[in-house]
Amino acid sequence: MHLLKSTAHDHPIASEITPPDVYQQRRRWMQTLAAGAAGAAASALPWQAQAQTPRPGKLAALAGDKSAVPGAQVMDKLTPYADITSYNNYYEFGTDKADPARTAGSLKTRPWTVAIEGEVRKPGIWDLDALLKLAPMEERIYRLRCVEGWSMVIPWVGYSLAELIKRVEPTGNAKFVQFVTLANKAQMPGLSSGSLDWPYVEGLRMDEAMHPLTLLAFGLYGEVLPNQSGAPVRAVLPWKYGFKSGKSIVKIRFVEKQPKTSWESANAQEYGFYSNVNPKVDHPRWSQATERRIGEDGLFAKKRPTLMFNGYEAQVGQLYAGMDLKKLY
Ligand code: MTE
Repeated sequence: MHLLKSTAHDHPIASEITPPDVYQQRRRWMQTLAAGAAGAAASALPWQAQAQTPRPGKLAALAGDKSAVPGAQVMDKLTPYADITSYNNYYEFGTDKADPARTAGSLKTRPWTVAIEGEVRKPGIWDLDALLKLAPMEERIYRLRCVEGWSMVIPWVGYSLAELIKRVEPTGNAKFVQFVTLANKAQMPGLSSGSLDWPYVEGLRMDEAMHPLTLLAFGLYGEVLPNQSGAPVRAVLPWKYGFKSGKSIVKIRFVEKQPKTSWESANAQEYGFYSNVNPKVDHPRWSQATERRIGEDGLFAKKRPTLMFNGYEAQVGQLYAGMDLKKLY
């Protein structure tokens, strides 16, 4: 698997770019969502054009849409849009960091549905338009720490996964949630490579899934998610290594037993079910004590220390009280 490649840390970083008028861009996006035409906006503004458009470094306030969830507004400098959308892990589109931005144009994000299955009173198929309207969209600035040793700071747009979970009414048997993401050979050139078992699957314990920081994301930088970032809908778990945040979700299953995940199936010694960011538990082949911030820390800069639970310990530490985090990594 590519996470192991030594070149993973040596990728050239796209240069930082000067802010234009993000406020207008965000307003436009919100208006588009309100009109129920996010798909049209996505095709009118393909990511290729967006990536070349000068991007903001700072957020403009838009009344009422900044999340009030504790921990949802980290004050770190935002990673430039161009970096967030050109340095990706999305193996369905290739294992090189630059592959998804190049090849994910073939992903069809409309029409799109998410199936809710398993231990719920209200199973069913949700159309993307219904999901977009399910709860108010919020902006959340999260750190994302990849298991490879790099991190970003990303202004996502979405709402807590808990909003959807409450609607579908899990039964008492629902102890875990499994995310199943799209696996479509015609659209995804990476599926023929066998780098992972497809579809890419991830899972969470129910209390993790219900935590208000667990985000169902539809956008970033106030705009529709570009394909390489996991369009049209992905999970974001800021206190876990990036691979827990499944992209392009098509199914959410509520189950009684801890579900298998793609990375565990690929290498259980190295990738556990929990995968909480933990500077004290090294990956078997490298340290997790430090990280490099993409777009900010150059290749020769001193690395910054990685924080317990990626800096979200106050919010999520309680979920793991009493657990042996070395065993349950
Ligand atoms: N989701 C799918 N479906 N396929 C993937 O290959 N890669 C994961 C995760 N979600 C991946 C995925 C990994 S390893 C990381 S670090 C994050 O997405 C990267 O998200 P980003 O490219 O938006 O930074």
